Amino acid sequence: MATANLQDNHAPPTISLQCIHCHAVYPANEIRYLCDCGGLLDVWHDLELLRSQVSRGLFDGRLSGAPGPRVTPTVNSGVWRYREIILPATVDTIVSRPEGNTPLYEDRQLSGWVGAENFFLKHEGENPTGSFKDRGMTVGVTQARLMGARAVVCASTGNTSASLAAYAARAGIPALIFIPAGKIAAGKLAQALAYGAHTFQINGDFDDAMRLVRQVCDQLGIYLLNSLNPFRLEGQKSIVFEILQGFQWQPPQWIVLPGGNLGNTAAFGKALYEAHQLGLVERIPRIATIQAEGASPFYQSYLTNFTERKSMKATTVASAISIGNPVSYERAIRTLKWSDGVVITVSDEEIMNAKALVDRAGIGCEPASAASVAGTRKLIEAGIIKPDETIVGILTGNLLKDPGATVDYHTGAWPQAQYANCPIKLEPTLSAVQTELEKIF
Ligand code: F0G
Repeated sequence: MATANLQDNHAPPTISLQCIHCHAVYPANEIRYLCDCGGLLDVWHDLELLRSQVSRGLFDGRLSGAPGPRVTPTVNSGVWRYREIILPATVDTIVSRPEGNTPLYEDRQLSGWVGAENFFLKHEGENPTGSFKDRGMTVGVTQARLMGARAVVCASTGNTSASLAAYAARAGIPALIFIPAGKIAAGKLAQALAYGAHTFQINGDFDDAMRLVRQVCDQLGIYLLNSLNPFRLEGQKSIVFEILQGFQWQPPQWIVLPGGNLGNTAAFGKALYEAHQLGLVERIPRIATIQAEGASPFYQSYLTNFTERKSMKATTVASAISIGNPVSYERAIRTLKWSDGVVITVSDEEIMNAKALVDRAGIGCEPASAASVAGTRKLIEAGIIKPDETIVGILTGNLLKDPGATVDYHTGAWPQAQYANCPIKLEPTLSAVQTELEKIF
């Protein structure tokens, strides 16, 4: 992939880019998404140095920043409070809404349904644009600004583009987004258009859009903000740091998340590895990546023990994870090794039924997120997760992102819908209401 040097005024000495294959090192201020050998890149932190600079106490001390009229993202943001191990940027350069500090829900009925005693849901759909992508985008767009990018670009199944559009607007940088026509949820498309991104609808799927965007970056010198860009993943690591901190640095046994392009799976492994190396935790939780049956290239490869890299034409109701050739494949394999992780699939019916229960609990999520819940139940049924282990499932996106899928489920489009809540057609008379209420109470 072609590289371009923009500005050379930003190269914090504690970070560089490192190939995950051959370990070649490049300066952090070089615009580059792949190693010369073709390997994916990591943002490399000097963990030796950081060990003397970061501690549980440092991060705990930042939990209660002083409130004020101005947003002060570095003080207590769920991303920037870990800035030493994410991106050592200064306050005036950071582009933030701010993001993170998402809630950890516990619901007795949901726990009962999955069959676990200690089941928590970390709701990343409660970030500013409604998905975990904001954690990566605050870092990615901050880096874009530091590099003097003239424009930023991504391919997306919807959430990355919504987030990029918002953060680019905050930074005053033009955003280009490439999305598969007719295949992204209404809420996400609405966000991209509303935030003012130049929106290109591709006659193809996400994987086609991704291929095109890589050419756009190579040939036209526009800054790439897909999770191929390692700075995005640095921000997404903060989901794990927040979970660890939320559990007072005594990690849960399991973290369960949906897998599409595998950026999050990759980021989670790196976060856990670094937290362990830095002495923030004594033990690494196991990661379970859940794919939709119709979009399960990582699972198919896992079945071959990663001797073969599988790809497929993806189709699933969980449009966010409808990806057949995931970019962070190699990084995600590393996560499984570091965390003794597992991969399974769930069907669209399982996803939609799990989603209906998350929604009915008053929490709500988009279809892809419910893979975490359906997957946890399946892993417990299979005896892989023990019922008394502590599990954190990640809800990656907000209920309002995909109103179409939700309405379809409740209005008869799914023969297997176990928890449908059909709207009742009614004549506008009190007696008609009374008749209906008699059926309910
Ligand atoms: N859940 C949601 C709601 C997502 O939007 C995505 C990815 C995932 C899960 C999967 O995460 O790719 O890191 O494995 N959405 C991307 C997008 C691909 O373009 O918005 P992943």
